[in-house]
Amino acid sequence: MIIVMATTSSSRKAEEVRQAADRLNSEARTTDQLMEGITLLLHQEMLKYNWVGFYMLEAGANPPVLVLGHYQGAMTPHTRISLHQGICGAAASSGKTVVVDDVTKDTRYLACSLETKSEIVVPVFVRGQVAGELDIDSHFLAAFTSEDRELVEYCAELVGKRLEKK
Ligand code: SME
Repeated sequence: MIIVMATTSSSRKAEEVRQAADRLNSEARTTDQLMEGITLLLHQEMLKYNWVGFYMLEAGANPPVLVLGHYQGAMTPHTRISLHQGICGAAASSGKTVVVDDVTKDTRYLACSLETKSEIVVPVFVRGQVAGELDIDSHFLAAFTSEDRELVEYCAELVGKRLEKK
């Protein structure tokens, strides 16, 4: 019974945050404002999301490089990441969401903070091509459930659709 209640309340929270992201999307005047708003919203409302940030592919860069954009949380030494580095590089080069339940067990992991235990990285697609990604770190092991994945993918999709209108 307790488990059922906990599940229900986390679903409710995810739904509330999804609706807040929709409101941000209709109120934001630019994609930049939307990205900033999404980092603030997820960092404030999702209690296990301890670092939330966007990395976007630098226009015209060869070889391609992910550049840190809006973020909430501690400063990171990783402001530019190539596609063969880190969980971030893996998500961008494969075009697939990467969820790491225990970062100490993944040799690809680039450490930002000693407190980070798990991570999710979701690509942002523009017309079917990876344009960047939404990266979230947690101080808790296995913080990202399928519900979290759906929520983060939804937020990344809002940004991708907005970038398609440019
Ligand atoms: N951990 C990431 C690097 C970015 S920081 O988490 C902010 C990675 O392994 O690519």
